[in-house]
Amino acid sequence: MSQPSDKWSSEAYSAAAGFVPKLTTTVLSYLAPKPTDKILDIGCGDGPLTAQIAASLPRGQILGLDASASFIQTAQDKNSSQNCNFKLQDCRRVAECAEAVDGSWDKVFSNAALHWILRDPSTRDAVFKDIHSALKPGGAFVFEMGGKGNVEAVHATILSVLVANGISLSTAREACPWFFPSNVWMTQQLQKSGFEVEKCELEYRPTKCTAKSADGSGGLEGWVKLMGAEMLNVVEENKRGDIVRQVCDVLETVVTREEDGSQFLNYVRLRAVARKI
Ligand SMILES: C[S@@+](CC[C@H](N)C(=O)[O-])C[C@H]1O[C@@H](n2cnc3c(N)ncnc32)[C@H](O)[C@@H]1O
Repeated sequence: MSQPSDKWSSEAYSAAAGFVPKLTTTVLSYLAPKPTDKILDIGCGDGPLTAQIAASLPRGQILGLDASASFIQTAQDKNSSQNCNFKLQDCRRVAECAEAVDGSWDKVFSNAALHWILRDPSTRDAVFKDIHSALKPGGAFVFEMGGKGNVEAVHATILSVLVANGISLSTAREACPWFFPSNVWMTQQLQKSGFEVEKCELEYRPTKCTAKSADGSGGLEGWVKLMGAEMLNVVEENKRGDIVRQVCDVLETVVTREEDGSQFLNYVRLRAVARKI
């Protein structure tokens, strides 16, 4: 199983998609942390959201797992505390982390990470099995991720621009790093993995791009470069800037709002609360 290359850095993430750990009011209300909860955070990134949850666990603890060495280093430097710890772990194989799958966790949480982690169909069942093993009986798996139709304009445009530049459609699709399931798919997957599904919903949530920046790390351009990196990597490095420009040019009239020139990506969020039976 190949390791994801580490494209993440706190600076690039905050410039291109700083809203991701912030637009979490609903999923946090579903998590409803209790002061003594022991919570596992799957794909925790650089950890500000994990630390925010830790603040509501005065007698509990949270452990964040992520496959990005850069993010885990930042999380440990900036966001760890006595009840908030981080560990480098590819969450396609959570079972490698013995303390994570010991059946002692009250809740497993995840925000904006499972659509990356579940990309490879061959490792999906194991991800759900390991999360199930992590939880106490009756424990809750509470998450938000990209759902069916998420960022579909930008997704289709990157595919189309790659094809227009001589890449085969199958190569472009293969490089897509995301899996955006429907709530029907997710409900069935959770049920077959031993969970009782309390909620599984899709929300259409158009989301304003971050501010454009002179160095190209912000706005739509920054988003395409960071989130679409695996797809851009199918062309030679010296052509990637031009591909990003073509993608942004095509999207210009699709994502820009006439009233103020702001640009919005059509996020679709899939949120669920599932209980270990
Ligand atoms: C958009 S970020 C979300 C981070 C954080 N949860 C937040 O809300 O800001 C997606 C995260 O998924 C992580 N990720 C992607 N594939 C992963 C894998 N196989 N195992 C663990 N983490 C993974 C990335 O490293 C990144 O930190």
